[in-house]
Amino acid sequence: MQTPYYTYDSTLFSRTIEAAKSEAACLPQAKIHLAVKSNSNARLIAIAAKAGLGADCVSGAEIAHCINCQMPAHRIMFAGVGKTDEEINLALDAGIGCFNVESVPELDVIQQLAVARHTIANVAFRINPDVDAHTHANITTGLEANKFGISMADMIDVIRRAQSMSNIHYLGLHFHIGSQVLDMTCFRQLSLRINQLQDQLEQAGITGTTSINVGGGLGIDYEHPELNPIPNFRDYFRAYADNLELRPGQSLHFELGRALTAQCGRLITRCVFVKQTATKQFAIVDAGFTALIRPALYQAFHKIVNLTGQAEQRPLRTYDVVGPICESSDVFATDIELHEVRRGDTLAILSAGAYGFVMSSTYNLRALPQEVVE
Ligand code: LLP
Repeated sequence: MQTPYYTYDSTLFSRTIEAAKSEAACLPQAKIHLAVKSNSNARLIAIAAKAGLGADCVSGAEIAHCINCQMPAHRIMFAGVGKTDEEINLALDAGIGCFNVESVPELDVIQQLAVARHTIANVAFRINPDVDAHTHANITTGLEANKFGISMADMIDVIRRAQSMSNIHYLGLHFHIGSQVLDMTCFRQLSLRINQLQDQLEQAGITGTTSINVGGGLGIDYEHPELNPIPNFRDYFRAYADNLELRPGQSLHFELGRALTAQCGRLITRCVFVKQTATKQFAIVDAGFTALIRPALYQAFHKIVNLTGQAEQRPLRTYDVVGPICESSDVFATDIELHEVRRGDTLAILSAGAYGFVMSSTYNLRALPQEVVE
């Protein structure tokens, strides 16, 4: 098989889904959706659909792809600040479960397009809860300064506007505070904020809120993927069960990406050269940030293993693992210990199942990595 390529462990993926479902049992109203942006592999989406999960999509192409993968349209939700008319029409024609609307202009366009198609659009509003996710700045989304959602001050007016529209069916509220969140107090804070907002809706006499969507964001253990292949779903769902005051009949939606997909995938790469300089020893591999951009873009840590050196029980040495692209950010890890690396060895970059292949590019005319589901 030509390196670099991704392998996905479908058994671990299924076990992860089952763990999430069983820990979510403390919330009888819970419905889990796979955030397809984290991994859109067709086989994995089909597994998720079969296990009863829904899908969180952020483009028309993701919606069409999910439907092709046997995901029932009514379990699909469509988020994003810049939905185009073509994408909205595609979603209306497919009969998706919910549009997560992020602005008044978007609401107005959905109403117009739904009128033209003689259909009704189910709509939830993404509210910016101003809760700090304490994660990397590039993946924090729930602060006032971010581009996402509608501000809390505008919430009531926007819902009233929606409820006066002929072809809009108001379902409820949507939130997402950020990604790779490991501090459960953030989810507690979101729950408390939602309680306050629901009180405000009731005081304003707004009825019809049947759905609360708390987004995704649960982080994983990038340092010890072998020890913790399945994330801490127990504390995650408990944070909501213990703090969120759902009203009778409300459903509670989760849009989990990384927590479901990250540990199931690894990027397999080959060492092209080992290069010694005055101060450093470089293992130069055939994967670059074109195959996995997270380290370059977010300074993200991914554990790396030299599969060949480990099998041969070679001694440990210190390396910088770098890609072939002539940009100084093309670095996977610095000063890490690996079993001695030799030209031609196979290395695995772990925890790469989320935001890995989906963010790959053909910069330098490099081929996209292949994906193998095992
Ligand atoms: N829902 C919404 C509205 C989102 O924006 C996201 C992710 C999710 C759910 C899923 O979040 P998760 O459960 O995966 O944390 N490329 C970055 C992560 C970007 C996340 C964007 N939004 C990374 O590689 O870390």
